[in-house]
Amino acid sequence: MNVAHLIDEFKELLEKENKQANLFQLKSQFLGKKGKLSTFSDQLKSAAPEERKELGKSINELKGKLENLFNERLEKLVEEEILQQLQKKKIDYSYRKKNKIPDSEMPGTHVVSEVQREIESIFSRMGFMILDGPHVEDEFHNFEALNIPANHPARDMQDTFWFGDKKHLLRTHTSTVQVRGMKMQEPPFRFVGPGKVFRCERTDASHEMVFHQLEGMMVDKDLSVANLIYFMKVLLKEIFQREVEVRLRPGYFPFVEPGFELDMKCLLCSGTGCSFCKQVGWVEVLPCGMVHPEVLRQGGIDPEIYKGLAFGLGLDRLVMLRYGINDVRLIHSGDLRFLRQFGQ
Ligand code: DAH
Repeated sequence: MNVAHLIDEFKELLEKENKQANLFQLKSQFLGKKGKLSTFSDQLKSAAPEERKELGKSINELKGKLENLFNERLEKLVEEEILQQLQKKKIDYSYRKKNKIPDSEMPGTHVVSEVQREIESIFSRMGFMILDGPHVEDEFHNFEALNIPANHPARDMQDTFWFGDKKHLLRTHTSTVQVRGMKMQEPPFRFVGPGKVFRCERTDASHEMVFHQLEGMMVDKDLSVANLIYFMKVLLKEIFQREVEVRLRPGYFPFVEPGFELDMKCLLCSGTGCSFCKQVGWVEVLPCGMVHPEVLRQGGIDPEIYKGLAFGLGLDRLVMLRYGINDVRLIHSGDLRFLRQFGQ
């Protein structure tokens, strides 16, 4: 038997093939039940007992070598296939010029993404990390770790899209990044987690099933509501490019204690009352609060030593406030006439 020859032959044939199916066919020609290797195995049967051990070993080695050759070639081929696919998908940057497509016809960044990036950059300048979290979540991160155990009435506050296993869900808020963020690092730290959230709700002018939030969290030794107010004022000032007045009203959320609703003085009427603020003079901007000790504990942080503050900014709402949009459904309608108004 000529082992070296068999290996070379296999190698050569593998190289020639450039389809996965053909590779597998080759594999069975060499390594299959009736393949070339089996003739060596047949020799084993007729071999003298004292030779069997050695012969068996070398056949196994040969088999291993052939398998390795096959696996290497397959891996390379898969890689080549992926590269080819990517080549096909290559973006032709000259397309626009060649086809004389005007700026107004160009696709651009969505207004919510635009505002999200702007806010991320404001927070990063204030030393906040930007974290991401999965859309498909488990009950623990969406509820339990946030002090919302099963049967807690607060679960009904957020109509949830559950998966069939009743354990996974589409996250109903970005507060899910709180526990992940706390476990990732040692305090003191501060981060924001922007992204899509999902609620199984009837839609109307101010409710959508998919919308965007930006969660913020800060953990340090001496934190108080004053820090919260400061960060929110800086944020709103940067967004609206002018000084804003804010106030806190008590609000209930199981993961903060105390919890608040933060309002901003209406920028349209400066607080005298108009149709935009429904004659109240104030506009609700975001819920926030001091992180509940139980939530800190779930994140591995000792509430005796550290304090936390958290807030949940509704990005779509902010876009609406900034551009005076009166129906949230417009934002995700995909209506280009609407989107182009933002210059994107
Ligand atoms: N996760 C809450 C929601 O979507 C919003 C929220 C409230 C976030 C208070 C917070 C907070 O961080 O402190 O309804």
